[in-house]
Amino acid sequence: MKRVICVLLFCVFCFSAGHTCAASEGTAQTETFWLSSLDVSRIEQSWGQARANRSVDNRPLTIAGQRFPNGIGTHANSEIPLLLDGKGVELSGGAGLDDETSGRGSVVFQIIADGREIWNSGPMRSRDAAKFFSLDIRGYKTVDLLVLDAGDGIDYDHADWVNLKVTMLDNARPKLDVGPVEDAVILTPKPAPTPRINGAKIFGVRPGSPFFFRIAATGDRPMTFSADGLPSGLRLDSQTGLITGQLEKAGEHKVTLRAENALGKTEREFRIVCGSQIGLTPAMGWNSWNCFAGSVTAEKIKAAADAMVESGLINHGWTYINIDDFWQVHRDSNDPSLQGPHRNSDGRILPNPRFPDMKGLADYVHGKGLKIGIYSAPGPWTCGGCVGSFGYELQDAQQYAEWGFDYLKYDWCSYNPAFEAYRDSKDWDPSSSPNITYAGGGDLAKAKVPFERMHQALGQQPRDIIYSLCQYGMGSVWEWGAEVGGNSWRTTQDINDSWSSMSGIGFSQAGLEKYAGPGHFNDPDMLVVGKVGWGPQLRNTRLSPNEQYTHISLWCLLASPLLIGCDMTQLDEFTLNLLTNDEVLEVNQDPLGRQAARITQNGMLEVWAKDMEDGSKAVGLFNRGQREQTVTVNWSDLGIHGEQTVRDLWRQKDMGQYTEKFEANVGRHGVVLVKIAPFK
Ligand code: GAL
Repeated sequence: MKRVICVLLFCVFCFSAGHTCAASEGTAQTETFWLSSLDVSRIEQSWGQARANRSVDNRPLTIAGQRFPNGIGTHANSEIPLLLDGKGVELSGGAGLDDETSGRGSVVFQIIADGREIWNSGPMRSRDAAKFFSLDIRGYKTVDLLVLDAGDGIDYDHADWVNLKVTMLDNARPKLDVGPVEDAVILTPKPAPTPRINGAKIFGVRPGSPFFFRIAATGDRPMTFSADGLPSGLRLDSQTGLITGQLEKAGEHKVTLRAENALGKTEREFRIVCGSQIGLTPAMGWNSWNCFAGSVTAEKIKAAADAMVESGLINHGWTYINIDDFWQVHRDSNDPSLQGPHRNSDGRILPNPRFPDMKGLADYVHGKGLKIGIYSAPGPWTCGGCVGSFGYELQDAQQYAEWGFDYLKYDWCSYNPAFEAYRDSKDWDPSSSPNITYAGGGDLAKAKVPFERMHQALGQQPRDIIYSLCQYGMGSVWEWGAEVGGNSWRTTQDINDSWSSMSGIGFSQAGLEKYAGPGHFNDPDMLVVGKVGWGPQLRNTRLSPNEQYTHISLWCLLASPLLIGCDMTQLDEFTLNLLTNDEVLEVNQDPLGRQAARITQNGMLEVWAKDMEDGSKAVGLFNRGQREQTVTVNWSDLGIHGEQTVRDLWRQKDMGQYTEKFEANVGRHGVVLVKIAPFK
């Protein structure tokens, strides 16, 4: 780094090519740094990655036609957290939206020093000229440069900080305050040895479909189960807690479930709703993709089922063991375990050699008191290039039902509305079909067609099959996913185990709450805690412990399907704890089926809340920022008043009574999840 020391008062020489210039202020020596010389790869943002001297899309920094050779290209929501230790003198630079979005996007730039705002750009749109600042930052320990989405989501928010410089005293240098390594602290006490009934409190089944529900309960074994008010047609196995049978007629039944062991007994109300709607609470289970991806096998599926039982997860309501892509034959793989005939002479789909006995596999999983899911695509090929359902939807649905599947993930990928013209035509040759993906928007009716077709096919089966749509949110699927029978629909592209992916997806669910309800939920994708890796190599999630608490808390508040994405045979204590807090899981499984709304947003601090059936509110106090801060929830924001009891759900501990608001210190990227209920 080049540097020139001056002897004159306020003398400054700057090097355009170097990172710094040096000067003296009074008797003190100062040095000026381009902030682009910091390790900008460590800057957290909700999309893409921050770049030095380039835009987020890796182009020259350009604001309203003006090029800036120096700066940081970032994206909402982002934070550049500077640690200055009281040695800063001046912060200067400019801010604006990069021209690369062609007129789209809007943000607010905000600069916070020791928790107090010192500059705010006001809302800025693409093509607005850069706004410049020169700020006295003497004495501040920390200065954070934030880019916020201006209240309209983060789409196209390519935001540039330009000519960004900080002048420091006494040979001090600015540092990025990206937080120390956190200890994986287990917050939740172990489940009590006395019985507690967990899992869904309401369950939907169609008339005539096989009924299959295992009472989830923690507590020492042996445990016996009984029930009052079980409608005729159903029977309960007192040893396993499994309720099976079938209901002939539509109707609602209030049942009291009981569990008893040597230390005590408990009971809980359970509602069975026999009618057209299934999946009344978000599905809880596991899916093979985020750990094994294309390396999945029947053995791994069996091992997952074994692990769900042996780890005790089953006792907290975890139910589905879902096979994702790669159980079918592959289009052109060299791997013999993915080769074979695609379908038999009747058009029935044939699994690949890794799955020699699908019926046996489903029986195995059911034998453990669990349910099993399968995956397909409405196009000729799945996303991974295996055989899809196009042209064979009814046969596939029949086959899944005959094998005994309980859940289908149906993933758009190779589907193209243009294929419909070929349907049933002799000329149809999937291997030569154009591989164009429909971009969403446009003709909504066309986007619905393949999902409605499989909905009809599933509806004809004598078995309840949860229907999970996957098309990444195209055409605002939340507006019509329920109409085409979806019990859930993915709202975004795939998640990965990084803070920017997880938090970017999770927090962008704001506004979708009106589309969720019993039987139909938004799906922000599967969980990325534990050992993940998209197979065959696995690694520990890259999310920090706080980020993992945020992930599970947010997904529970969002009433999202909860699909564990890790290898359950390698669960560590911390991950197991994250997945077995019954008070947290109750937020997800609440019978009202509400999705939390974001009720306040203050810089990087957000409060999300959802109504619970018992009249309480589940509230998440989130800190998306880089350092611990106090997050406040005011009763007025929640629409409540008077004395309220606040319970910390991760710690399972009452915090006491509060009358106007509740405040908590929340760590970097962390959460405090509470339940707020009128004090009685
Ligand atoms: C993606 C989907 C993933 C996974 C994958 C399989 O489109 O979003 O969750 O299912 O396909 O190839």
